[in-house]
This record gives sequence, C-alpha cells and structure tokens, in this order.
Amino acid sequence: MPTTPLTDHDLDTRVNDLRDDFAPRLLAWQRREGRHDLPWQNTRDPYRVWLSEIMLQQTQVTTVLGYYRRFLERFPDVAALAAAPNDEVMAAWAGLGYYSRARNLHKCAQAVVERHGGAFPPSAAALAELPGIGRSTAAAIASFCFGERVAILDGNVKRVLGRLLAFDGDLASAAQEKRLWRLAEALLPVSADDMPAYTQGMMDLGASHCATRSPQCLLCPVSELCAGLAEGEPARYPIKTKKLKRGSRENWWLWIEHEGRVWLQQRPAEGVWGGLWTLPLFDDESALTAQSAALGVAAPETLPRVKHVLTHFDWLLHPRRALLPREARPAGEGVWVARERLGDYALPAPLRKLLD
Ligand code: ADE
Repeated sequence: MPTTPLTDHDLDTRVNDLRDDFAPRLLAWQRREGRHDLPWQNTRDPYRVWLSEIMLQQTQVTTVLGYYRRFLERFPDVAALAAAPNDEVMAAWAGLGYYSRARNLHKCAQAVVERHGGAFPPSAAALAELPGIGRSTAAAIASFCFGERVAILDGNVKRVLGRLLAFDGDLASAAQEKRLWRLAEALLPVSADDMPAYTQGMMDLGASHCATRSPQCLLCPVSELCAGLAEGEPARYPIKTKKLKRGSRENWWLWIEHEGRVWLQQRPAEGVWGGLWTLPLFDDESALTAQSAALGVAAPETLPRVKHVLTHFDWLLHPRRALLPREARPAGEGVWVARERLGDYALPAPLRKLLD
C-alpha cells in the first residue's frame, strides 16, 4: 500500500510524543545493561577517547582492543604522537585497514599541538575543524569528555533513530540526513551530566538489540516507543537506496628473498594501502616474469592466490616467490628488510599473513 512521505511536522510530532520518555529509558538501560568496561571508557581524556573513536570507525571492538593498548604504550599522549615519525605511526596502525585514518590521525595530533598548544579544543564545533574528525566523531568526543549536548549520528545511530521514528527519508540524500540530524538533536537528554551515558547508550543499543538483521525488539528498552516496530517491520529502516558499486582488481605480487631478506616497496601516500610497505606489484604476469628473469630467476614459484575484500572492490593477488641466486637490485625504489625486522614496517594484513 503506497503511503505519503512523512512531513517535517509529522516527524516533529513523533519526536515530541516520545522525547520525555526516550532519553530516561535509554539512560536507565545503559546504566544497567550497557558497556562500562571498555578501555576507552571511564576516562575524560580527549586523546584516549579520540583515538578509540577513530579506531572504531568501520572496525569491530574486538579487533580494536589490542591495537588500542599497543598504540597507547607507544604514543602515550598527543605530543608523543605528533612528534613521532610517520612510518612509526603507520607501523602501529598496520593491519587495522582504512589507512587514511592513520595519516589523518597523525596530522590531527600535529594540529592539536600547533593550533591548540597540545590540548584538544573543548567543543564539537572546534573538534570538527581538525583533520579526520567528522561531525559525529566530534560530537562523540565532546559528549564523552566535556558533557556537551550534541548528537552523534553514525551508521548504528541512523539505524536506531530510523527505526524509532520510522523515518522514511532516503539517507542516501544529504538533505534527508540533515533532517535526521535535527531529530537526533531534539531527542537529547535535558541534563548535560547525562550526555556520556546517553551517547554510549545509543552506540550500545545499535550494537546489540537494534542490530542490522533480526532486531531483538522484545529485549529493547524503547520498544514501546518505536514507530518502526508499531508498523510491524522495523528492519525496513533505515532506508538507503544508493548501493555501493563494487568492482574487482587483479595484481601479481613478486616476493623475492636473498639471504634472509625480503624486498619491499613503499606505496604512494594516497590510495589503497597508502604509505604501507608491500612486495612489488605488477599488473600482469608477464611484467612480473620479465622482472624476475632480469634478477636471474627463470620460473618463480606460484603460491595460492590471496583474495582481499575492500569496501569498493575485491582485490585478487597472485603471489610468486623467488629466492635470488645472487645479490641483485630489483627495479625501482625499495629496501631489503631482514625477516626479523619486518615488524618495524607497516605491512598490510594479508601480506603479513603471507610472509608468516
Ligand atoms: N563504536 C564507536 N564508538 C564506540 C564506543 N565509544 N564504544 C563502543 N563502540 C563504539
């Protein structure tokens, strides 16, 4: 049955009807059943909170835990991070993926030192001016650390609010997303003291009962307020039509070793694996064979292909391995790295696995 799209007035009425109950219920649930012991909680140190928020973008909590601990050991504060060589920052990040996050992290630390004397600015608006900090991340940091009354709207929260309000706008459109931001702001708790628990509660609900598939509405603390559930099909929301166009790519990877050392090349700063170290990559097998022949290897060994899934494409990598019979320098920039020093280099996760 076709229905007419909700107007702003419809949505405002919806928000007005539930705003008195929503935040208190979410807060009570967060305090009772939410997460309280993650290593970036129970602190108001913006450095620690910022680092966790950047690491948690597109990455699961369980993956982040070990990286977070090691990163803080190596770079205990924003000044240490700002002063570190970029290679070391990339090496500490290697394996977490989405490497533009690490490049921006380093730039952001430097901006905090240069523009703000080493202290993160205490408002979401000022935080959002820094490299790599978007509106939602800025709001998360400001609400956790400074109790600012600002809304977050990451993928999880779009789902929670999309369902709660049966928001029928297409979130592929910037104008619709802007509407949802306004509604998210209208739902904030009255007291700034509640902001950390509220923000965490939105994240926790999106990561638990209000998961993408098969939402657990029977367990949800706000199910009685949920317009999506009242309609009978909460998983229909949020609506987002634009599908990501995914492609595929194929490359050949030349793994050459000589006396326990591996030849690595650094990728350009921009693009996939930007700034990371990898084996030389070739667009086709004949280019790889020509290079290995020039180094004195007639037939490199074929290893099982590696499939690496990225957001925009599947990457098929065909590794070929050769032990160089004599000292020879491959074409292009690169370095020989002793196997036991590989840990000092930022290697993409599938390459680390291959070399192990
Ligand atoms: N995802 C993004 N931020 C988070 C946080 N503070 N806790 C748990 N998961 C998160």
